[in-house]
Amino acid sequence: MKKNINFLDLGLQPLANNYIKKNQLINKEKKYRLKIGVNLKTKLVSINKPISSKIMFNNRYPYRSSKSKTMIESFKNLSILVNKKFKPNKILEIGSNDGSFIKNFSKKKVIGIEPCSNVEKITKKMGFNTYPKYWNYKTAKQLLKKNGKVNLIYSANTISHIKNLDEVFKSINIVLDDHGVFIIEDPSLLECLKKNTYDQFYNEHIYVFSLVGIESILNKYNFEVFHIENLKIHGGSNRYFIKKKQNKRKINLSVKIQRKKEIKYGITKLSTYRKFARRVKSSRKKLKNIFIKINSKNKKIIGYGATAKSTTILNYCKINNNLISYFVDTTKDKQNKYTPGTKIPIFKYSGLIEKNVDFIFLGAWNFKEEIFEKEKKFIKRGGKFIIHTPVPKII
Ligand code: TYD
Repeated sequence: MKKNINFLDLGLQPLANNYIKKNQLINKEKKYRLKIGVNLKTKLVSINKPISSKIMFNNRYPYRSSKSKTMIESFKNLSILVNKKFKPNKILEIGSNDGSFIKNFSKKKVIGIEPCSNVEKITKKMGFNTYPKYWNYKTAKQLLKKNGKVNLIYSANTISHIKNLDEVFKSINIVLDDHGVFIIEDPSLLECLKKNTYDQFYNEHIYVFSLVGIESILNKYNFEVFHIENLKIHGGSNRYFIKKKQNKRKINLSVKIQRKKEIKYGITKLSTYRKFARRVKSSRKKLKNIFIKINSKNKKIIGYGATAKSTTILNYCKINNNLISYFVDTTKDKQNKYTPGTKIPIFKYSGLIEKNVDFIFLGAWNFKEEIFEKEKKFIKRGGKFIIHTPVPKII
């Protein structure tokens, strides 16, 4: 297989979800060089040196999908669609997190795989059939033995975290019924390039997928995409509906349309990625200038949503606790800790933005609408937001 050609260097980055406790502030943090490359043969875009899953996904994992109304609604709507369209009687979710998707189904019908045991415990306690395991061939064989084949597999924002895609699909192949459906949902490479959201790249996001990239692996395992939905989730995601080739389900026109869109934009060409890298560099300059200008006027900036994505932005642009006073976040496991690398304190979101706050840096820009709705008071009193996509600006 041809090698990746690196096109973007995002510098030294800490582990994106490794929020620091106060007593650990004096310790030297481990950092990793984050370079992004494209494989022109497979069309897969990935980070250059993935870190071991065991270091990133363990019993201290802070992310909870239930922390956003947008995600809860999206999972609920998908569960309605899935029941109506595919009528599955056995469903497997890979990366079930704290259960926002599986909660929509009867406990008898669903199985969840979640390697972060602190998060998996939550669904186990609720009575769901979940396993604290990584998705690999061994897990698939164990599942098959215990539960038999399934008719529907769903995985949101998880497959892009797994380095060995060959093993992912080999394992899906043995667990999925021949007439079954596999649905993957992940950030869209096309949207990432168009919106300059380079923060989709961090050590957990090994890949940012396109349809053409996904298809190059699927082909090897006799799978094909039969429908694709473009979602607003996470700044633009794709939901790929996949089937085994022997399953004669019709291929929807959406697949052809998406393939055309991606190729027209230049997803298969190195020059597209080089141009993207130039835009990212210029975005860093613009964003830093916005912060410096506001800071020189003695105005107060806080961050909203201490996301893994913002770890990339803050470390790449060298925006630290001199420029952002603190972050607010609703996730308990992030509160009273510090942002990775840049060491900005994170506090509990109290429901009110302090009166002396003039600007909010939107770390969770992907939930912009939900947050603007919540922060009407702040907006009404003249408060402004700083956002880095598609170009850094104050809104
Ligand atoms: P998200 O963008 O889903 O993830 P990632 O870490 O993968 O980049 O994270 C959203 C974060 O923002 C999460 O820590 C919860 C927080 N958040 C709030 O604090 N308030 C809100 O209103 C919303 C929508 C999110």
